[in-house]
Amino acid sequence: MDRFIGILTAGGDSPGLNAAIRGVGKAAQNGFNMRVIGFKDGFRGMVENRTVRLEGHALSGILTLGGTILGTSRDKPQKMPVGNSVMDMTDVLVDNYHRHHLDALVCLGGGGTQKNAYHLMQRGLNIITLPKTIDNDVAMTDVTFGFDTALGIATEAIDRLHSTAHSHHRIIVVEIMGHNAGWLALGAGVAGGADVILIPEIPYDINSVANAILERSRGGKHFSIVAVSEGALSIEEAQALEAQKKASRHKNKKKKKATEAPAEIENCPPQSRTVVLAQKLEDLTGLESRVTILGHLQRGGAPSPADRLLATRLGTACAEFINEGVFGVMVAARGDGSVPVPLSEVAGKRKVVPLDHPWIHSARLVGTCLGD
Ligand code: F6P
Repeated sequence: MDRFIGILTAGGDSPGLNAAIRGVGKAAQNGFNMRVIGFKDGFRGMVENRTVRLEGHALSGILTLGGTILGTSRDKPQKMPVGNSVMDMTDVLVDNYHRHHLDALVCLGGGGTQKNAYHLMQRGLNIITLPKTIDNDVAMTDVTFGFDTALGIATEAIDRLHSTAHSHHRIIVVEIMGHNAGWLALGAGVAGGADVILIPEIPYDINSVANAILERSRGGKHFSIVAVSEGALSIEEAQALEAQKKASRHKNKKKKKATEAPAEIENCPPQSRTVVLAQKLEDLTGLESRVTILGHLQRGGAPSPADRLLATRLGTACAEFINEGVFGVMVAARGDGSVPVPLSEVAGKRKVVPLDHPWIHSARLVGTCLGD
């Protein structure tokens, strides 16, 4: 009897998604005679039963394409905006799983998707996931697809900013994606030779940063490149955020109004924090500053060869695990291989940069200021 699998992509898009869809779909069809359908726009499309056939030529010519041919959204099945309200649509999604006689649902996504997939696994569906995000912050995998491509784009940006910063004797602060983890800013910063790298894992002291820039000036280098993660915070901001979180935990616990939460940190978009940072550095150093926000450029365009390889490796392994009946797992990259990791060990966890990571160690040894 034919076996059927469904595929969806959820969360922010990432280079390599199409390579992964192709890897799962081709291996499932060619290797194991499975039938494959796609759901449009993440969990929302599955709730709304919007499908795409992924047979025949549908998987041809997509290996090198950026984005996702399925479309994506950040909607969660258990908290989905419907009209003016937010509803738990899990039952509808489960009904659609059975309506298509699925033997498995493959969810391609980052941390949020792993959590939502775990929720569906607990509802009895055969779920298997793949780790994608340019942020590289999914737990239990060596790396996520999308990261290598974004790393290349951010590094090239730093390379290009060097000549203009040097010519104008300026500080250029370049904001790199990564709300909660600094992998991208750290990686691109080290690879591109940024003079200062600021990441969420290391709250920074603005005076240390300014002193590092002044020290370079005194040595005859009248320009500096500051690579900053969008989630990087100063020591004061990090303390205020901690107090804010504590107050809201207290509020939830006691179910009464918390006192004076410093709401401005959470409400302050990263772009404005980056602009404020650049202005402060200009004031403290006397050097003119400029800001470059790389934004969604880092997520767009063709995947790098390394991401195509990774996505194909994980995608084809995913089809093999489905064939063996291995469910409730994320297919993780481990060394050169692909291993199934229980979703219970991935959901709700985040892989941040360890403070003793070799990239941090090397950055310090080449004299990069990390803001502490
Ligand atoms: O997917 C992760 C990420 O790229 C983060 O680095 C960034 O903060 C966020 O997505 C931006 O998301 P959106 O596409 O919703 O603006």
